[in-house]
Amino acid sequence: MRLRGLRTGRLGSVLLLLAGLGAVTAGLAATAAPAAKDKPTAATTPAAKATAKAAAAGIQPQDIPTGFNFPTAQPVVDGWVAKNDTTAMRNHAWDVWGGMSAPSHAVIRLQHLPIWETWYGSDEVFVAAGAPLAAGPRTITRKFRRPHQFDHLRRAGVAVPAGADADQIVSFNKFSGASGKFLMASHPTPPGGASVLYTQQAALNTLNASWAQTVPVENRKIVDFPREAIDTKPVMWLVKKTGLTPFPLWQGTGADATTNAKNPTPTTWLNCVLVDPKGDPKTGLRPATPAEVKQANLNAKLVCDAKRYLYAPLAMIYSFVLSADEAKDFNQAQGVPGMTAEAGDYAVLAAMHVTTKEIVNWTWQTFWWSGGKNPPNDFPGGSANLNAKVRGPWRNYAMCTAYSMVVPATDPKGKPVVCFNPFLETSPGIPDGIDSNCMSCHGTARWPGNNNGGYPATYLPNGYINFNDPTWFATQTRTDFAWAIPGDAVQ
Ligand code: HEC
Repeated sequence: MRLRGLRTGRLGSVLLLLAGLGAVTAGLAATAAPAAKDKPTAATTPAAKATAKAAAAGIQPQDIPTGFNFPTAQPVVDGWVAKNDTTAMRNHAWDVWGGMSAPSHAVIRLQHLPIWETWYGSDEVFVAAGAPLAAGPRTITRKFRRPHQFDHLRRAGVAVPAGADADQIVSFNKFSGASGKFLMASHPTPPGGASVLYTQQAALNTLNASWAQTVPVENRKIVDFPREAIDTKPVMWLVKKTGLTPFPLWQGTGADATTNAKNPTPTTWLNCVLVDPKGDPKTGLRPATPAEVKQANLNAKLVCDAKRYLYAPLAMIYSFVLSADEAKDFNQAQGVPGMTAEAGDYAVLAAMHVTTKEIVNWTWQTFWWSGGKNPPNDFPGGSANLNAKVRGPWRNYAMCTAYSMVVPATDPKGKPVVCFNPFLETSPGIPDGIDSNCMSCHGTARWPGNNNGGYPATYLPNGYINFNDPTWFATQTRTDFAWAIPGDAVQ
């Protein structure tokens, strides 16, 4: 959670400068309370020494604290799904959100990290066999990259429509302690069989070749993640340290909201919020004044309608200050840079996918910043059922859930449940993303997962995936809904 005031930014830059001098090279200066004892370092100034000491202290992944109903017993969640109790599902999604965004013990540049930031990154989990694992306390580095989702068509060998790369968002994946530790360990697969490390392509190939023809297609799978597992995909946007930076605001697919109703990517949104790093945290979302519009940083890639500009202080969005290394990463990860990130600028959390293994098919929920302004008809979601356990800037996100593929949940001809993230699934790289369902697409996650680029042809509008369907799963191994396994497995 951000600290009050703007001290964080200035101090962050000072620490960065020192890091640049060589005291700390491994990304961020990180500390966990209480601070570690002084150790001799190459640092020459007291401040640099403090930075190095902080980095040595290390961070452990923290669990969601009690009080947030996580994990909820499987029969309870299954009961909501069977009855399509959307209120119970939404209450739970907000609980998970409140729990994972609660402040952790870990501090970076005076800012308490939310709990999810202490979790394992892909770069820690998907490492070469035999490489040292992030078993103990460690520093946190934010390794930005392009969301892999945007490459579906390209990977399938299909020509990518113009503009598919034009998104300025960057992301990475985070795996909770239970999920990350599961991925970093080998598992007898099938249970009682040979041990397999799921992060390695060679091991997955051996496993995939080992299935006897007698094994039903749906049972050719890795063992399940533990029920405490949570996987997330945070999505970041850039806010410059000076001036007011336009941030696109999702207001649906209407002509007054986007210039492209079919693929309404953030760059096509007409409603934008001018985010002010110097803004009074007590100010809420409001129309921008002509003077504020004049201060807007130019972002040639956005089509924001200046007459619709809103204004929000930075404190309304979860953000952190970019280090020089992170700014470099950020620029490289952007499809088409609309703005260049520099040290001291802010990465703001635009959106976040969250999935939990509390039920067999996982629970699926996604969040995007709305400033409390819901889109028309709450499509695909809004702030309904938000509870008091969600604090600070985390209250300013909208949300939708997909706890089943269709309703009724077990009816292959059931009505598809639509839930997508406006910052991600609107990409032309994802056909019909605005009708999509998280569970249907992730249900087809498999190794080697080649046909149609891993794209379920039937996921729309008939969202039901039969896990015994050889069309998807013959000669394949299911990866327990985790696309990260086929996406990131190490060669
Ligand atoms: C059309 C297919 C598709 C849809 C729809 C989809 N995803 Fe994904 N998702 C992917 C792919 C592919 C990845 C990439 C894995 C990577 O980043 O390496 C991914 C990654 C993720 C990750 C990172 C961990 C993992 O399992 O790989 C999470 C969490 C996630 N998605 C959640 C969601 C949620 C929540 C929704 C619905 C709001 C959703 N996804 C919709 C295909 C999809």
